[in-house]
Amino acid sequence: MDFKNRDIISINDFSKEELLHILKVVRQLEQKPKSSLLNGKILAALFFEPSTRTRLSFTSAMEQLSGKVIGFSNANTTSIQKGESLWDTIKMAEQYSDAIVIRHPLEGSARLAAEAASIPVINGGDGSNQHPTQTMLDLYTIQKTKGKLDGLHIGFVGDLKYGRTVHSLVIALAHFNPTFYFIAPDDLQIPESYLDELFQKRVKYHKTSDLGRFSRELDVLYVTRIQKERFPDPLEYEKFKGIYRVDEAFLQGVKKELKIMHPLPRIDEIDKSVDSTSHAAYFGQAANGIPVRKALLALVLGKIK
Ligand code: CP
Repeated sequence: MDFKNRDIISINDFSKEELLHILKVVRQLEQKPKSSLLNGKILAALFFEPSTRTRLSFTSAMEQLSGKVIGFSNANTTSIQKGESLWDTIKMAEQYSDAIVIRHPLEGSARLAAEAASIPVINGGDGSNQHPTQTMLDLYTIQKTKGKLDGLHIGFVGDLKYGRTVHSLVIALAHFNPTFYFIAPDDLQIPESYLDELFQKRVKYHKTSDLGRFSRELDVLYVTRIQKERFPDPLEYEKFKGIYRVDEAFLQGVKKELKIMHPLPRIDEIDKSVDSTSHAAYFGQAANGIPVRKALLALVLGKIK
């Protein structure tokens, strides 16, 4: 399998075999780090939206493999402020680097960047649409903590409407015969287009607004933040903030082996008392961003097949 020069824009662009191959490369790189693999390579990290994990883990992954990172975390300091288009910004970044990672508030922006650039473009999150590298680290975390990907009962709770990490992960996990539980108020439920796709793929799913309803069934609970910045009307956000809370009381009614994941950042949806329990997988999940992004960079830059 050859990923050289491949863009990573949407999880839909990857087959089950390709996803499993990527996870195999992640494991190999974790077991045998190759510290000079990206020597001489430059990543342009173009962040038009705030980020902690995605930007820092891409930077750390690149530097741990002896590569370098240029870019910005605040578009106000760039010539976008003078009216330069996203297309032209990408055309410039490709003159100065070997690959681009972009985070942008507009859905479809990463696809546009990939059309503009002749070097690999990686989507670090485009609006409410997709966050494919997060999905790959989520898959890796599930495989590592549960020992498998197949046949799991997986709950998603919180903002399933705007949550791009949920959208990408649902599509990826659909390859692995899951049963899904979508836990959200009606107004924040997963979009119908995803349910249509699951129906066509014969994936079993349940919808509820009650966090406790299926708690005993779950192998994994993927918690998400209610994303204030995605609501067109701030009053709508006020209606839903703090609606779900995973705490010690909730843990009384779950399987001993339940793993709780969260793409982070969290606000108040997971109580800090959960952090020290065997259920908490979210900090390890964030740490997996390093080996996963190392593997993806090495693959698209043609250093590993
Ligand atoms: N999970 C994630 O994308 O985190 P950041 O927004 O901090 O990058």
